[in-house]
Amino acid sequence: MATITRTPVGIIGAGPAGLFLAHLLHRQGIETVILESRSRAEVEGTIRAGVLEQWVVDLMNQMGLGERMMREGHFHSGITLRFNGESHHIDMAELTDGKRVTVYAQHEVIRDLVAARLEDGGEIVFGVSDVQLHGVESDQPSITFRRSPDGPVEELRCDFIAGCDGFHGPSRQTIPTAIRSEHQIVYPFGWLGILTSAPPSHPELIYAAHERGFALLSTRSPEVQRLYIQVDPKDDIANWSDARIWSELHTRLEDKSGWSLTEGPVFQKGIIAMRSFVCETMRHGRLFLAGDAAHIVPPTGAKGLNLAVADVLVLSRALTAFFKSNDGDGLAAYSAQCLRRIWKAERFSWYMTTMLHHNPNETSFEQRIHLADLDYVVHSRAAMTALAENYVGLPME
Ligand code: FAD
Ligand code: DHB
Repeated sequence: MATITRTPVGIIGAGPAGLFLAHLLHRQGIETVILESRSRAEVEGTIRAGVLEQWVVDLMNQMGLGERMMREGHFHSGITLRFNGESHHIDMAELTDGKRVTVYAQHEVIRDLVAARLEDGGEIVFGVSDVQLHGVESDQPSITFRRSPDGPVEELRCDFIAGCDGFHGPSRQTIPTAIRSEHQIVYPFGWLGILTSAPPSHPELIYAAHERGFALLSTRSPEVQRLYIQVDPKDDIANWSDARIWSELHTRLEDKSGWSLTEGPVFQKGIIAMRSFVCETMRHGRLFLAGDAAHIVPPTGAKGLNLAVADVLVLSRALTAFFKSNDGDGLAAYSAQCLRRIWKAERFSWYMTTMLHHNPNETSFEQRIHLADLDYVVHSRAAMTALAENYVGLPME
């Protein structure tokens, strides 16, 4: 006989979506159980996003989770766009009434959220396997899982299930294909990302469009820098010696001004593929998808983590109204409300990606249009403001 436990909200996945949701609901007195397939060390050690929108930073501070971020994060009020060997500064703060972005690594956010959840007595079960969703169309959905690969099957009975299990998790697949429509672009390029022990080369992020491909300079700390170059997504990281990576970074990032990139030992490197993806609907019965489980953006706009938090903020408000006032309107509106913001972030991420990358499948006409777009954006205050307000994050309704 399986062990049976109960929780108001069962959350699958301890990424940004699942952890923020657990914290937001706990603050409203609604308890949750998070089931996560990876170990705590793996979840806390995966190197991914770096840029937080202003409202996410404000939310972390309001939740009492921002102390280390405010100490160790980097606050950037602008970015540099570099193309045709020239640099153009976009002053985000000046264009958006003082809004900034914060560079604070996703795995540091995860560490802060996991520690605070466990301190609050919250339940996160790491290392689960065989996760399956049942009865999502009924009032009593449940999740079955094993705590270890050889352990017995356990059942978690819930009022609601939040599918926060990323692009490859089982939640989205639970929605019948007849009522799920998926929209996707797979790009013919990926990013090779490195972490290097080096001092910062530049005070702000540099997004560079170059005929050899895109490059991005970001940071992590006074001692560690994060850099990316566009590569073939099917390329093998073994083909990329450190010397070859640095050579491409110098070529693509350096401009005519004489500024130069500071090198250091590379201690982490990997290649990721890039896609744009949206699943409509994000709700089926008592299952609600949030974050990468429902949508993916290419990383160029730095939107993925921020969108995941936006979804669960909307979901936490809707669940709170349901549990406290028996008001289901927010839950009924959840998918449509989130998708409005998601499609705008998809548009911006697609725009930044197509404008800044070299696409070998495009005609020379299309490639020149992207250069014209860049030239326009750095010389028109209207276009620059549009880029800035999307980059720092559109307002939460
Ligand atoms: P995830 O972080 O994928 O979390 C899902 C969790 O579910 C995982 O821990 C997974 O182990 C777990 N899971 C999966 N299957 C199961 C299962 N069967 N059972 C239980 N658990 C399961 N975003 C930004 O906002 N800004 C950036 O600057 C940025 N840069 C990026 C750079 C790179 C190189 C990459 C790869 C991504 C970047 N992103 C960025 C995107 C961002 O990392 C993701 O959008 C974000 O992690 C989404 O959070 P999530 O919680 O929805 O999903
Ligand atoms: C980082 C990642 C991004 O996708 C981006 O647009 C900017 C910075 C980063 O990892 O620092």
